[in-house]
Amino acid sequence: MRHVTPDNLDAVEGVRAYLASQEKKSLLRFLTCGSVDDGKSTLIGRLLSDTRQIFEDQLAALERDSRRHGTTGDEVDFALLVDGLEAEREQGITIDVAYRFFATPKRKFIVADTPGHEQYTRNMATGASTCDLAIVLVDARQGVLRQTRRHTVIASLLGIRHIVLAVNKIDLVGFDRDAFDRIVAEYRAFAARLGFRTIEAIPISARYGDNVSQRSARLDWHEGPTLVEHLERVVVDDEAVELPFRLPVQYVNRPDLDFRGFAGTIASGAVAPGDEIVVAKSGKPARVKRIVAQGGDLERAVAGQAVTLVLDREVEVSRGNVLVTPGSRPQVGDRFSASVVWFDEKALRPGAAYVLRTATDQASATVDAISHRLNINDFTEEEARTLELNEVGVVTVSLRSPVAFDPFVENRATGAFILIDRITNATVGAGMIRHGIRQADNIHWQSLDVSRDARAAIKHQRAAVLWFTGLSGSGKSTIANLLEKKLHAAGRHTYVLDGDNVRHGLNRDLGFTGEDRAENIRRVAEVARLMADAGLIVIVSFISPFRAERQLARDLTKKGEFVEVFVDTPFEECVRRDPKGLYAKALKGEIDNFTGVDSPYESPENPEVRLQTLGRTPEEMVEAVERWLTERDIAQDQYESGGGI
Ligand code: ADX
Repeated sequence: MRHVTPDNLDAVEGVRAYLASQEKKSLLRFLTCGSVDDGKSTLIGRLLSDTRQIFEDQLAALERDSRRHGTTGDEVDFALLVDGLEAEREQGITIDVAYRFFATPKRKFIVADTPGHEQYTRNMATGASTCDLAIVLVDARQGVLRQTRRHTVIASLLGIRHIVLAVNKIDLVGFDRDAFDRIVAEYRAFAARLGFRTIEAIPISARYGDNVSQRSARLDWHEGPTLVEHLERVVVDDEAVELPFRLPVQYVNRPDLDFRGFAGTIASGAVAPGDEIVVAKSGKPARVKRIVAQGGDLERAVAGQAVTLVLDREVEVSRGNVLVTPGSRPQVGDRFSASVVWFDEKALRPGAAYVLRTATDQASATVDAISHRLNINDFTEEEARTLELNEVGVVTVSLRSPVAFDPFVENRATGAFILIDRITNATVGAGMIRHGIRQADNIHWQSLDVSRDARAAIKHQRAAVLWFTGLSGSGKSTIANLLEKKLHAAGRHTYVLDGDNVRHGLNRDLGFTGEDRAENIRRVAEVARLMADAGLIVIVSFISPFRAERQLARDLTKKGEFVEVFVDTPFEECVRRDPKGLYAKALKGEIDNFTGVDSPYESPENPEVRLQTLGRTPEEMVEAVERWLTERDIAQDQYESGGGI
């Protein structure tokens, strides 16, 4: 506790004024990256302890001065400073990234500490998304490694424009200038095409502190700044303020009937009361009446500030929408080309379904195609059918519903997205939008007068998609066939889509790799949807081994119409039955990617119907499905059961 008495008042005020001035210092956000044994933790530890020391010295001097002026000094609470910074802790993206705070007399710093060797790239990308600068650490003995290049490319893709090449462990090469120069030359040649504004190379020993905050006599040949000097001085203009106004709406603030405001953090640009804005997706205009912020109304607010805008008229703005300046609007679309960095063990496959999340919006997404993979060594574009863990590529993304976006080069905040696995909820990729694809420009939904319900009603039924999934030989086709026979006999209008049959026609260009299977299911899901639209009871019988694609099929179908039927037959039993002799071949290695043998089958977690076939007859299985359908009034004669007429 600090005790304020008249004779130490000046000193306390002095220190307070000093601390207050610290609050106004500029803030630099950076991260460290490089290969695994680069000494990242040692460097961060060193920065934290050295800068704390600088601070203590500074304050000690200040207090000495105060004393000289006839007042007594006082203990200073560093927590004050740290607390102030703590308030800036990022919301929501802290999953795997710890943010460390420190300050020197000239600047405040937040370093994204991205721990862990596994998933290092993902953590790095998460950290990088808010950073201005990256320290790329290189071990002086190892030089530029694959990982160095990869992280540098990712940093560039994520919009980082300032690099420090820290050649660490320089003590282990005897402080050798030539070793340093060679590494720097190689790195500069490599990074020249990545659009960085500054690349500062500094020889350091994080372990012994050489050239971190203290200029090292052992590195007297180095003419440039120490690491801390450079971090204090490097100019990273806050470009976001200069860009067109964008406010992604996080929520609609409506505490009572008299107040309605749109809350969010300004992603770019500035806004003032009286400004004209439009709602990005609808184009509806309005004028800003008030800017409400913590501590009162504002006359102007800029990028980075959290505000609530009150508009001069009622407009429909849902969460996920963006308020923008009418003079420069973002694109609104459902298809674009993007660079993607892939983080997941399970490769990115065209056709697979993900959830795409932008600053505030989200939509169901599929990657239609991979244009190419980027070779991170020579920047050549390679043909690729998948993107594996840590790979970078350019892809085309399609969304189920449009989002507002800018190309990433024009706006880092509204041009970036992440891809999320629908089942595990893990972030599997980071994307930077290159440009929208306006294929839908001249294609519109044609509205039709005969509705889907009318088409089903004339058949006296409700449409449904009965989706049978299970191993080859599990009994899907047999059960599907028998079920259709019974439904047909009862006067229902049905159709069976069977894997083997559809693969002879519509899907005859597809094989059994992961991406071909995803496309196989995507097409069948679309066909099933059209047939359900036509009022049919569609029975789909495909192995459909991947959860994500079955989920996509479910999402395509009208709510309540999708019935997942898991034909649950143990693998050993399928091998024993082997109706087409395929398991025998696959087990001998004569068929590649055979489900259950050398390609996975992901069992449904919550199927509507689970048929355990072992020891039961196909008739019993069909009865089980029929019972389920009857209980829910599906596949009944709607005249009889619905009693409508
Ligand atoms: S899916 O995995 O893409 O859904 P689909 O149901 O269309 O598969 O086709 C499966 C049928 O193709 C099997 O019943 C079998 O007759 C045949 N087939 C040929 N090669 C394979 C393979 N590698 N894996 C599984 N089934 C195969």
